[in-house]
Amino acid sequence: MPAVAYVNGRYGPIAEAAVSIEDRGFQFADSLYEVVAVMNGRFLDWDKHLWRLKRGLAALFIEGLPSDAALAAIARRLVSLSRYSDGLLYIQVSRGAAKRDHGFPADIPATLVMTVRRFNFRQRLPQLETGVSAISLPDQRWARCDIKTTGLLPAVLAKQEARAANAFEALFEKDGIVTEGSSTNLYMVAADGRIVTHPLSASILPGIARDTLLGLAQDAQMQVEERPFTLEEARAAPELFLTSTTAPILPIVQLDGAAVGGGAPGPVTRRLGALAWAEIQRQTGWNG
Ligand SMILES: Cc1ncc(COP(=O)(O)O)c(C=O)c1O
Repeated sequence: MPAVAYVNGRYGPIAEAAVSIEDRGFQFADSLYEVVAVMNGRFLDWDKHLWRLKRGLAALFIEGLPSDAALAAIARRLVSLSRYSDGLLYIQVSRGAAKRDHGFPADIPATLVMTVRRFNFRQRLPQLETGVSAISLPDQRWARCDIKTTGLLPAVLAKQEARAANAFEALFEKDGIVTEGSSTNLYMVAADGRIVTHPLSASILPGIARDTLLGLAQDAQMQVEERPFTLEEARAAPELFLTSTTAPILPIVQLDGAAVGGGAPGPVTRRLGALAWAEIQRQTGWNG
């Protein structure tokens, strides 16, 4: 079977999977999602993703998710049905399907959708050598960017603008502060070599790759500072990089058309890149 889906108890090809048009995920983006890397047939940072999903569900008062063990069993079955060794597991939970009304409906089951698609992580290795480009844009998102909701329209528009500018990512700027990318967390390396990234707050998603990378940096005795930084600081920084589940670490070598640092990946990002990929190998056995 190629890309596979699970929808409320049923497994099948993605092309045949469906939810009701009355689903509140469709009607209101009243839903959350997670994206987990499947590498060498194993899940990267599974427990952290589950933690974030449950945190988001609690924030939105969505109940009735299967147990952790049941979710893991569904996820494993999808991977084995797909036969992909490298892919992305997508989990979406909505409040459920009901007659349209903004307030919560009483006693409806949540909708649970999970899919596994193929994904090529290998493409990130040459990108780690060359770096990618980014543009900056005003942050037009809502005030709870720490919740991973499917209400992604500002991110969709920003990513499209980046694509039109031949850039890999759009970086969001709010009140002079550059917070994160449209689907990535952002870091600068300061002149003294510190790794600086926006602190956890309602302005950014608590990225799983961020959490893992900061842990690796600290274990390696590298200096990490979690504080807001301005777009001006970012422009002047010797190194910038981003992280996400689909791009464990990528250097940004161009911002708004100007070279970052020397216009090539710098030593701190390279060192972190080696640590990040070694951790992936340690957890999953992935070796390209
Ligand atoms: C806005 C935003 N920030 C950061 C991230 C990175 O999070 P993670 O490392 O959990 O993939 C994402 C991922 O989709 C995102 O959408």
